[in-house]
Amino acid sequence: MTQAPTTQETSTTVVLFGATGDLARRKLLPGLFRLFATHLLGDLRVVGTSMEDLTRDEFIDLTRKSIDDFSKHAVDEKIWGAFAKRLYYVPSSAGPAALEKTVREAEEGMPEPIQLLHYLSVPPKAALDVIGTLREAGLVKGARVIMEKPFGTDLASARALNAAVHEVFDEQQIFRIDHFLGKEAALNILAFRFANGLFEPIWHRNFIEHVQIDVPEELGLEGRAGFYEGTGAFRDMVVTHLFQVLGFTAMEPPTSLEPEAITEEKNKVFRSMLPLEPMDVVRGQYQGYRDEKGVHPESETETFVALKCRIDNWRWAGVPFYLRTGKKMAEGQRIISIAFREPPKSMFPQGSGVGQHGPDHLTFDLADEARMSLSFYGKRPGPGFRLDKLSMQFAVHDTDWAGSVLEAYERLIYDAVRGDRTLFTTAEGIERLWEISQPLIDNEPPVRPYAPGSWGPNQIHQLVAPRTWRLPFERKWREKH
Ligand code: BG6
Repeated sequence: MTQAPTTQETSTTVVLFGATGDLARRKLLPGLFRLFATHLLGDLRVVGTSMEDLTRDEFIDLTRKSIDDFSKHAVDEKIWGAFAKRLYYVPSSAGPAALEKTVREAEEGMPEPIQLLHYLSVPPKAALDVIGTLREAGLVKGARVIMEKPFGTDLASARALNAAVHEVFDEQQIFRIDHFLGKEAALNILAFRFANGLFEPIWHRNFIEHVQIDVPEELGLEGRAGFYEGTGAFRDMVVTHLFQVLGFTAMEPPTSLEPEAITEEKNKVFRSMLPLEPMDVVRGQYQGYRDEKGVHPESETETFVALKCRIDNWRWAGVPFYLRTGKKMAEGQRIISIAFREPPKSMFPQGSGVGQHGPDHLTFDLADEARMSLSFYGKRPGPGFRLDKLSMQFAVHDTDWAGSVLEAYERLIYDAVRGDRTLFTTAEGIERLWEISQPLIDNEPPVRPYAPGSWGPNQIHQLVAPRTWRLPFERKWREKH
């Protein structure tokens, strides 16, 4: 990755828009505290702002409560005391001049140079207003801006949004975040593929039969009906997270670990993707969704989507990629599963168990406790030749490194402060993903009902036939030692 100055030497002011929202409380405020507590961000000030009329003390209390509720790490009271002094708040109703004044006040006495980082944790509709506020407040020069997804709702709106943001910020200042790319397990796909000689030679259509990227969630709306009704599972998860993960899984070896090199290879994958065929998409809605508070009684928003997509290049032609995600499903999982081709002939007799548990699989678990496994057939001990599915597994949490894992948002904020764009998405990549999505957006199949706690509507089986979904797993992950 790019050698930027280490952040211990950098003074950083984070202006957090949407500072009282769900994402800020769950991830961003606890994450900023962790970056401060671990000295990854040396001198840090946080200026919170939102539509809520809080005082500075109330914002400090909200931050503390967020850390207590959502941080996985014990709080050192001395460090908290130092952090609390670095928190400021200004309501958005106070206007751009008040925002600028609070930022200057926060920065008093900080060693120069100071890196200003605006984090726009706001819905897409509000993003342009915030950009306007930053221009009026004179907080643009030298600043960086992290933008949350979704970037637009279709190709036209994504282009319009990118054009409007470019009127104020250069592309080099913009960091479009996709937190799935900050997950340790996602980064490990790159290490696994490109740091080893063993796997890359078989990483293509001659050996891989299909790929599944499957992210069912047990969670429901979690009070986000307002956001979700206008977004749905496809825009919330597929056009962002799942396609980005697909990019890492399918790309050619980049020439270096530099942002341009990685982005170029990811964008090549996106350019090779065929436009989505509506007949290859299953949209679902869990029963009871229309009764949720804030949901239209005749809502057609999908809370589930499964689809087949194709990458039409030399490496992947003919290999289907199946993607699935949804709310209120049977289990919460985040896996990439690579299914290898089966042997062309078998000397093992019928009834030996060969092929009975599907093909050999390589599976990446993108959970915070990252794991991977390779499953294959082996001999069951004893007389005769009974075959069973066996597996080799690796879990980060079985190693001594477990404590060093950075949560995805922590990792990405840290990278943005250092100016490292490797794990951020670009306007070009995002626009291409909307472009291949447009046939689906223009011609959406109907939403099919599914029972909460299930794996989605029945049509999911036809989508993958004669293959089967890898989830639910036949065999569980090995427990921690
Ligand atoms: C967010 C989506 O981007 O990702 C949520 O808006 C989803 O709907 C979440 O629940 C999943 O992220 P993670 O890191 O919990 O898998």
